[in-house]
Formats: sequence, C-alpha cells, structure tokens
Amino acid sequence: MVPGSIALLLLTLLATAAAAAMDPDERETLFRVMEAVSSDRDWRVESPDPCGSPWPGLECKPAGGVGAARMHVTRLDFGVEPNPACKDTAAFPPEVFSLPRLQSLFFVDCFTNPAATTTLALPAPGNLSASGLQQLSIRANPALSGTMPPALASLRSLQVLTVSQNGLVRGEIPPGVGDLTSLVRLDLSYNSLSGPVPTRIGQLRSLVGLDLSYNSLSGAIPGRIGELRQLQKLDLSSNNLTGGIPDTVANLTSLTFLALSNNGLSGRFPPGISGLRSLQYLIMDNNPMGVPLPSELGSLARLQELRLAGSGYSGPIPEAFGQLASLTTLSLQDNNLTGPIPAALSRLGRMYHLNLSNNALGGAVPFDGAFLRRLGGNLDLSGNSGLCLDDRSVLRGVGVGACRGGGDGGISSSAQGSSGNGVMRTSGSLLNLLGPACVAVSCLFAMSEHAPY
Ligand SMILES: *[C@@H]1O[C@H](CO)[C@@H](O)[C@H](O)[C@H]1NC(C)=O
Ligand SMILES: *[C@@H]1O[C@H](CO)[C@@H](O)[C@H](O)[C@H]1NC(C)=O
Ligand SMILES: *[C@@H]1O[C@H](CO)[C@@H](O)[C@H](O)[C@H]1NC(C)=O
Ligand SMILES: *[C@@H]1O[C@H](CO)[C@@H](O)[C@H](O)[C@H]1NC(C)=O
Ligand SMILES: *[C@@H]1O[C@H](CO)[C@@H](O)[C@H](O)[C@H]1NC(C)=O
Repeated sequence: MVPGSIALLLLTLLATAAAAAMDPDERETLFRVMEAVSSDRDWRVESPDPCGSPWPGLECKPAGGVGAARMHVTRLDFGVEPNPACKDTAAFPPEVFSLPRLQSLFFVDCFTNPAATTTLALPAPGNLSASGLQQLSIRANPALSGTMPPALASLRSLQVLTVSQNGLVRGEIPPGVGDLTSLVRLDLSYNSLSGPVPTRIGQLRSLVGLDLSYNSLSGAIPGRIGELRQLQKLDLSSNNLTGGIPDTVANLTSLTFLALSNNGLSGRFPPGISGLRSLQYLIMDNNPMGVPLPSELGSLARLQELRLAGSGYSGPIPEAFGQLASLTTLSLQDNNLTGPIPAALSRLGRMYHLNLSNNALGGAVPFDGAFLRRLGGNLDLSGNSGLCLDDRSVLRGVGVGACRGGGDGGISSSAQGSSGNGVMRTSGSLLNLLGPACVAVSCLFAMSEHAPY
C-alpha cells in the first residue's frame, strides 16, 4: 500500500470516529427528552452513545464538514412498538425542539393517563425559527390538553403536521398555520377545536391533504380554500360549519375526495362543480341544503361514491345521475325527493349500494331481476309510499314464483296509493306477509329463494 493511501485511510477512520460522537449538549438534550417521556430503561447508562447504536424510534445522520462531521438526531418516535413506550407520567418535552437537526417527531398513543394531562408546550417562537422539522405527528393522545400553540407557525420547514385524535386539545386553529407554506398534509381531525377555519389557510399552496373533520369548527368555509390548487383530499365533515359551499371550490380540480357531512351547510352547489373532473368521493350527508339535486353532478365521470342523505333535497333524482358509470354507492335516503327512479340508474354496472329510502319517490321501480339480485341487501327503497314493483318485469327477470302464492300477484305499477305499512306498495303479494321487518326490495328475493315451488 502506498503511503498516500494509508494517510487517506487514516483520515477516513478519524472522520468516522468523529462522526460517531455526538455533540455533548445535543446528547444531554436527548437524554432529558427520553427521561421526560419514557421510563423504558435508564437511557444514560444503557445507551451512553445513542447515535452509535440507536434504539428503534431513534434515527441519526452525520452532518457538518469533513473531519468536523458529527452524528445528529434526525428522527424521534414515541409510543407504539417497537418505539419506546411512554411512561404514565409522560410530559410533552419542549426541549425536543432544541435538537438542531431533528426532521421528524412522533408522539402516537403516548400521553394517555387521564390523571397526568400535559399540554402541547412549545418554546418561544425565537427558539423555533431555526428548526428544520419537516414532520410533526401528535396522534391518539387522550391526555394531551390545552390549545394549539401559535408558536407552531414558526416551524416553517413543516411538510406534514398531524395533531389528531387528542380529544382534549381545544381552542382555535392558530391563523399562523397559514404561514407554514411548505405543508403538504395538514390533519387536525378528531380534536375539540372551535372557532373558524382560518382564512389564511388559502396560503398553503402545496397542500395535498387537508383534514379538519370531527371538531367543532364554526362559521363559513373560507372562499380562499379555492386557492389550494394541489388539494386532492378535503375533509371538513362533522363540524358546525354554516353558509354555502364557496363557489371557489369549483377551482379545486385535483380533488379526488371531498367530505362535508354533518355540518350546517345550506344552499346550492357551486356553479362549475362539474369541473371537479378527478372527484371520486363526494360525501355530504346531513346538511340542511334544502335545494333540488343539481344535474351537473352527473358530469363527474370518476365519481365512485355519492352520498347526499339527510339534506332536505327536493325534486326529482336527475336523469343525468345515470351517466355516473363508475358509481358504486349512491346514498340519497332521508330527503324529500319526488318523481320516479330514473331508469338509467339500472344501467350503472358497478353499483352495489343504493339507498333511496325515506323519500317521496313514486312510480314503478325500473330495476330488473339481475340488478336486484346483484345489489341484494344493499338496495333500500323502503319508506317511499308511492313506489311499486312491476310484477311482470320481476317475474321475467328473476322468476319470483313465490309471489303467486299471494293470490292475484296484484302488484300495481301505478305511482299513487298507500301501502298502509310504509313499505313498497305490494297489496296481495307475498311481501305483505313478510311484515314490517322486511322493508327492502331485496327481502322479496331473499325469501323467494327459499320458497318451495
Ligand atoms: C430559548 O432560547 C433562549 C436564548 O437562546 C435560551 O436561553 C432558552 O434556553 C431557550 N429555550 C428552550 C426551551 O430551548
Ligand atoms: C353549533 O352552532 C350552533 C349555533 O352557533 C350552536 O348553538 C351549537 O351549540 C353548535 N354545536 C356544536 C356541536 O358546536
Ligand atoms: C376560482 O373561482 C372563482 C369563483 O368561482 C372564479 O371567479 C375564478 O375565476 C376561479 N379562478 C380560476 C383560476 O379558475
Ligand atoms: C321535507 O319533508 C318533511 C316531511 O314531509 C317536511 O317536514 C320538510 O319541511 C320537508 N323539507 C323540505 C326542505 O321540503
Ligand atoms: C338506508 O338508509 C336508512 C336510513 O338512514 C338506513 O336505516 C338503512 O339501513 C340504509 N339501508 C341500507 C341497505 O344501507
């Protein structure tokens, strides 16, 4: 070996040895964090060189110039196996933000003792501004209380912020969250947050996923939400939001998932809603919308689930819904829909769940036996006193011979008249004998398979 290469080898060895060592201050901070959160073991004694032999839940990376390189903590993960478990008296450790190269921080199922609540305490904004933290996930901590600290807005490198399923976390969403312009995902679901959705959320131009569901947010959905052009998933369900769906939502052309169920939203859909070409899920049950169903929804060609139950919709089911070729689930129950069921629905070959119960629909059910068999118990037409089953089409399509046992098989196809039990009008047929427990069309076929003939 030539002397030069020996020198190089020595240099490399030296650099590696140096890299294996941590800055003593950083190591001390890490030990203090471990002691505040986890009592799994005596960290100082059992892991005197943490980055030299990291435990699950700890990741280190070298940083600094050649020769000066040191190992730094880049990821800390608490709470779920195989990561360090949190002790009964675990407290949120503000000093964790002093780890100079920390990129990812997780507390999952960590603060759980109701007798030892702790708060999401952050150092002063000045101590956070140098932070390079990219991912902060604080999830499923029933003993975490207090508010979302405004200082969060100083974590400018954050790409993923999850503060979710911490039932005691309350107060308003700090408007400064709108300054976290690197955010790709923001999930604040299942807390007890109140107050408005901050308008400045419109500044988060890189956002792909926004989930604020299951809180007590109130007021209107800010129009600026339409500026989130990258957004693919928007979930604001189960809050207390009122007003209309802002027209600007029609600008969210990347959306695949839109959920607004269980709010106080009312009024018409935005004009141009048919421009949401990527939309696969439109989940909007239980809002006091109180308008007719817009036929524009029939242009959302990728739609797989359309749920608009319990929202005071009136008028007919638009014929255009029969164009939704990808549709697997259509939930329109508990509205005030009138008129016939569009025959085009029966041609939707992917449909497997159709609930039209508790409306004021009328006329002959346009489904043939094959459609009825395919949906089986996932079809619910009950609670529409004007609906009736066209006996001949059923007999031809499914061969429901058992119906003849009811006498004249006199299932009327007229739209009017009442069945007395709120079920489909089926006077004289077997369906009447099945009693009120059997409220869906599917019961007819479930029974007929066992009928001896
Ligand atoms: C915040 O910064 C100040 C000044 O640098 C320092 O004295 C203090 O210990 C820091 N606090 C935390 C929690 O890091
Ligand atoms: C929703 O808002 C209404 C009116 O402001 C209020 O009375 C109600 O208590 C709120 N509900 C929840 C769950 O926050
Ligand atoms: C966004 O939506 C608003 C309101 O509907 C509209 O005026 C505006 O032109 C839209 N912007 C773009 C770029 O489509
Ligand atoms: C829907 O029907 C119910 C019961 O008939 C009625 O009380 C309610 O006012 C109707 N709602 C609308 C929006 O038409
Ligand atoms: C249809 O909706 C009603 C009312 O919400 C519900 O009770 C019923 O279970 C649903 N039926 C099916 C088949 O999903």
